Amino acid sequence: MISLDVNGQLHVTKARPSDRLADVIRNEIGLTGTKIGCNAGDCGACTVLIDGNQTCACMVSAARAEGSKIITVEGLAKNGQLNALQKSFHAFGAAQCGICTPGMLMAATDLLQHNPSPTEETIRDHLGGVLCRCTGYQKIIQAILNIETIDNAGIVDPGIGSAVGARAVKIDGIQKLTGAEKFGDDSAPKNSLWIRAIRSPFWRANFEIGDLKSFVKNTDGLLDILTAKDIPGNNGFGIYPDVKDQPALAEKTVRYRGEPVLALVGDHDSIYAIDDNDLPILWSEEEPLQGFDKPLAEGADLIHPSKPGNILAEGCVIKGDALASLGGSPIIAEGNFETGFVEHAYIEPEAGWAQRVGDRIEIYTSTQSPYMDRDEVAQLLGIEKENVRIVPSACGGGFGGKLDLSVQTFLSIAAWKHKLPVRMVYDRKESMAATTKRHPSRITARYGCDENGSLKSFFFDGDFNTGAYISWGLTVKDRVPIHASGPYYVPAIKAKSRATFSNEPVAGAFRGFGVPQAAIAHEALIDELAEKTGQDPLEFRLKNAIRKGQATSTGQVLKSAGLAQCLEALRPGWQKARAEAIAFNAASSGPFRLGAGIGCMWYGCGNTSLSNPSSIRIGLSANGRITLYSGAQDIGQGTNTTMVQAAADALGVPMSQIEIVWGDTDKTPDSGKSSASRQAYVSGNATKLAGEDLRSQILRLANAGSDARLDIQNCRILVHDRETIHEIDLTTLKNSEGGDVLLGSGYFDPPTTSLNSNGQGEPYGTYGFAAQLALVEVDCGLGKVRVLRIEAAHDVGQALNPIQVEGQIEGGTAQGIGLALMEEYIPGKTENLHDYLIPTIGDIPPMKIFIIEEPEPSGPWGAKGIGEPALCATAPAIFGGIYQATGIRVRRAPCTPDRLRAELIRSGISGSR
Ligand code: FES
Ligand code: FES
Repeated sequence: MISLDVNGQLHVTKARPSDRLADVIRNEIGLTGTKIGCNAGDCGACTVLIDGNQTCACMVSAARAEGSKIITVEGLAKNGQLNALQKSFHAFGAAQCGICTPGMLMAATDLLQHNPSPTEETIRDHLGGVLCRCTGYQKIIQAILNIETIDNAGIVDPGIGSAVGARAVKIDGIQKLTGAEKFGDDSAPKNSLWIRAIRSPFWRANFEIGDLKSFVKNTDGLLDILTAKDIPGNNGFGIYPDVKDQPALAEKTVRYRGEPVLALVGDHDSIYAIDDNDLPILWSEEEPLQGFDKPLAEGADLIHPSKPGNILAEGCVIKGDALASLGGSPIIAEGNFETGFVEHAYIEPEAGWAQRVGDRIEIYTSTQSPYMDRDEVAQLLGIEKENVRIVPSACGGGFGGKLDLSVQTFLSIAAWKHKLPVRMVYDRKESMAATTKRHPSRITARYGCDENGSLKSFFFDGDFNTGAYISWGLTVKDRVPIHASGPYYVPAIKAKSRATFSNEPVAGAFRGFGVPQAAIAHEALIDELAEKTGQDPLEFRLKNAIRKGQATSTGQVLKSAGLAQCLEALRPGWQKARAEAIAFNAASSGPFRLGAGIGCMWYGCGNTSLSNPSSIRIGLSANGRITLYSGAQDIGQGTNTTMVQAAADALGVPMSQIEIVWGDTDKTPDSGKSSASRQAYVSGNATKLAGEDLRSQILRLANAGSDARLDIQNCRILVHDRETIHEIDLTTLKNSEGGDVLLGSGYFDPPTTSLNSNGQGEPYGTYGFAAQLALVEVDCGLGKVRVLRIEAAHDVGQALNPIQVEGQIEGGTAQGIGLALMEEYIPGKTENLHDYLIPTIGDIPPMKIFIIEEPEPSGPWGAKGIGEPALCATAPAIFGGIYQATGIRVRRAPCTPDRLRAELIRSGISGSR
């Protein structure tokens, strides 16, 4: 018996002395506010106070904590009231997904106890052990610095008609600050069975399975071992309706290390005690085909027999005669570029639980796409879609990685077969080894302009490694050539892409779908052309920036394009940063050099040339309750809040009157997935239409004019129509099936067309634009780059909520810094958060954000998307800075110290101290 004093209460537990304190707090005491992101001391999500000091609870045994005073996030609020730090986090929008928030709050509490007025530098030092993948840390720092002055956050409680554009706090923010928020691993029934995947240790192999029955019989606590034969429907999944190439459990062949072949079902301790090597699997390993060269070599074995040459598909965009035009361009810049796998590294690993209810299955899980999950599970089990219910938990970060199925396949098969609740949690290693990555790329590009610096032609040829299975490979090969020339007006373009297979992790969706890789190439060449024509990099971009009324690479004439405004917003900061770098370098004799760079991007919001509609409903019940039914999954970006803002203004009521039901596929309509920066634009439109529909129904009942004011109180609506007040008694209206007496519906599908064989057409309803500048310091002795500051200007059409938009920009930019300088997933080697580095609070510089609002006519109040645009311009800006500092043009991301140091040596830059 171990007794623990947690939040001032003594708990007598059944923990073993060696149990991790984090597990005991969560599982024995039931305080799930303490999170587990790695169980290795790397992420800090489990941070608690032990005798007043921040400590990773996953690294402390229960026995060691006995006799100490432990405070968890649940101990911060008193009598249901948030403390000052929590209030400040709430006001400044310091919690996005919220999975890191308990750890951050505990680390900050420790700091403030010792130093009530910390500096920014002290905050960075003290919070360095807690990772956040969403926020870019900016708002966390602001919240701590301004704890006594939270009015600085500029929060408003918007009145009727002014919710859109208001700095409103998150409607679901408080539960993220108290530990009450339930993520994928926080709510499974106590009596659940556990399931664990057995995965291939080889990159390419054939296998045979031996006598599993005897193994089960002879192993205590093991109830079953699932194989592909246990799948009642189709053993294949994939994100396209007609492509299901990835087996839930492999049959005879594995194509990457980490591919699941069996699944153990039983009690937790028993299934985790089984050594994988003891299972009766006979492996026959084969030489893997990895990278680009081996799979694409003449005569290479086929990873999928139906895909000749190991090529999944090719994409192209041809506008004018690019090759002839390049031949006639007097000034050319060209280069070869490479990027590697990048890991999403959300702090919440995949988790969930499932139960069979009669002939239906219910899955509670962390996901970005409840409806896609529903459809996939239905075909896996061979049942109707209506018999699958997905109930999303809070999602502790996704960034594209929680679009594909993970635990859902195992949970559904096991719960369906055994008719008992089953739960599953990936550990960090499994999360990194088994889930999707950003596509590695290999790009050749060439840009031509005239002597005045007007762009004339562009050529691009890019391969994107989709790994062992298709996942989002087709999307990447379509999206890349469209965006490959960047956000500029170019009369002639030839852009080709290929998605290729390899025996490596599956590459999927990751914030940008190939656009960040292409941006590294086009921005490097734009910098070179600017230099060759003797023009300032910003002014060169401004001259060529695509504008409203001009035709894109696909011939689409833009109705909104705010790149020029973004560049103009950056101009003062740009000139200052360039001058600062020049002055510093002229005066410096040591190894340090400064440089300022600029990067631009554009991004089509929504699926490429495909229908991707969103449906939203808003109901009004007989007692006057207004409910927004939204299937638009909030993965931390704040969709729940912005959709309520949109609903409030469309309907004409205050935000506070609207309740939200989100994500549950039994209760909400299909709003599509949270990806491709589509929710603000697509679901924002659907919400606006639903609100307007409900409003017009009310006005019709009252026979009132369109500008009438609604006052919904208890069971009646007072409709103030100029001098007249109409009253509607809601109790006299007939209840619909869901209990609402009035129901507004909204449906929006972005206006797109399919592309012809030259890739010409209108692939997206709208585009976001951005320009970012980075001032960097290069230590030429070590090859180390430090980003000193970032300025980011983003055209979002209309910020539905500026705090959420800033948060997206700051978080995306932080991921861009990772892409530029440190993040490369090396299959089989970097399967944890100490070998795979993501930016800590100490790696992220101050950022200045400019929100540019160039309205999109088809957007809700003019809004476009921001999720993915936030990341794409950062790496090019940093690489431009490295060039000004050192004269080295970066061609391979990430630009790690060893790579840069090698280039410096090759260039004869010694960096002596
Ligand atoms: S879970 Fe303890 S440090 Fe990551
Ligand atoms: S808010 Fe920090 S990880 Fe999501």
